[in-house]
Amino acid sequence: MRDKTDGALPDLPPKPAARRGEVSIWTYFKLFKKDILSAQPARLYRAWMAEMRTPFFRSYLCNDPKLVDLVLKQRPMDFPKSERMRVGLKPLLGESVFISNGETWAHQRRIIDPAFEGGRLRIVFPAMWDSGVAAVERLQKLASSGPVEVEAQTSHLAMDVIFRTLFSVPIENEIAAAAFATFREHQNAQPIANITAVLPLPKWFPRFHSRATRKTARIIRDLIGQLTDQRAAEIKAGTAPDDLATKIMTTPDPETGKVFERDEMIDQVAIFFLAGHETSAAALAWALYLLARYPDWQEKLAEEAQTAFHPDKIYFSTLSKLKTSRAVFREAMRLYPPVPMFVREAACPETFREREVRPGSQVIISPWHLHRHELLWERPDEFDPGRFKTPNGKECLRNAYIPFSAGARVCPGSAFAMAEGTLLLAMLVRAFRFERVDGRDPMPVAHLTVRAADGIYLRLTPRAQMPKKEVER
Ligand code: HEM
Repeated sequence: MRDKTDGALPDLPPKPAARRGEVSIWTYFKLFKKDILSAQPARLYRAWMAEMRTPFFRSYLCNDPKLVDLVLKQRPMDFPKSERMRVGLKPLLGESVFISNGETWAHQRRIIDPAFEGGRLRIVFPAMWDSGVAAVERLQKLASSGPVEVEAQTSHLAMDVIFRTLFSVPIENEIAAAAFATFREHQNAQPIANITAVLPLPKWFPRFHSRATRKTARIIRDLIGQLTDQRAAEIKAGTAPDDLATKIMTTPDPETGKVFERDEMIDQVAIFFLAGHETSAAALAWALYLLARYPDWQEKLAEEAQTAFHPDKIYFSTLSKLKTSRAVFREAMRLYPPVPMFVREAACPETFREREVRPGSQVIISPWHLHRHELLWERPDEFDPGRFKTPNGKECLRNAYIPFSAGARVCPGSAFAMAEGTLLLAMLVRAFRFERVDGRDPMPVAHLTVRAADGIYLRLTPRAQMPKKEVER
């Protein structure tokens, strides 16, 4: 925590330099394709809305909390997901809830939401804990051999959480390991940052999927199909574990009475793998970096983790004691929102801040800019997990903090991800001291998720042996 009386300039965490001056539309496309953050002008950190007009389309980036509220909460059905997004992600996601609209989407959410409701967190909590224990063991082996690239580690960890909570298998399981490896290949062939999905190109612009993209998508879907079939057989035999997959596969839509067909379930599992692992991994990696950069906060969190965990058992109620961990995770997602921008399409004519918005225009909601807005947040670029206790922090938490989006299409995994981030951060910091490596501070870049341009390298020193505690199951 910085001494605010010493008059020193605050030590600000990395932020990409904004674009300088105006550029042609083609230069903008090029910059945007490289990194959507540095392609934007600095004025977006102060603007309430920015309109972009080209011969092919118009797009409106909305920072005004009232507009964000209108688009996400008041009239979400008038601002559906765009066809561009759908086409880009279709090979892997089929008709998943992430890209569907209208009644198909509503039916899918009616089945999915009950699996993620608050009360069910208690059921998946032991699996999260097991993932944390396994991660600490993996890191113990790596810690002595120099700096560790933590993004790769948190990626592994977050995928392990998904497999354990969804299908009750660890990432070492044969099918899980194959799916994880193929996901990496798929992201190399066509990063989740399938940039053409958000790149404001005209609708007629063709979008191709490389052969590698189609092939890896097919393999992943086949592997998910195997997990789904196994689970269907276990449900039939009455031997299925009480995890997310069983809950989702046995929940009928309360309005139609229908359960998911096999292919529909594969579509949903694919998005849980994709949306649930990239995002949590990015948030955890940035949180660890921030703790390494601000060691006072790290020590505070380590102390909290030491006292919060019971000496013999881990209780679900421990989560509520991890207040510093939660605040750090929350602040990390303010500064580095895993999903920096998302796009909607105006379905009907609108008026935004006295400007006419034509149907078909792109509406961009940018957590990246909203979370650092200079007219909303006090000291927007400073790392201060304590800010959420201040009047300004509380106000902004309500109006200008949307790492999980908001309204009807809010991330169904938000409570799950907050529990996961809070718990794992505490477990990792309880086990290791994280330190920066000279000359290797990360620079954020974003396609669809905010990652570090060249990874996040940190030095890890074991703090104390992680006792082999049993979680109360
Ligand atoms: C820190 C972790 C996470 C963050 C920051 C995050 C963020 C988001 C955001 C911003 C959206 C809205 C995107 C848009 O409207 O275009 C979203 C949607 C979604 N997320 Fe998450 N997410 C996280 C973790 C998870 C997890 C763990 C799961 C499930 C296991 C999940 C599943 C989904 C799904 C299915 C959607 C689509 C919802 C819909 O369109 O109705 N997410 N997430």
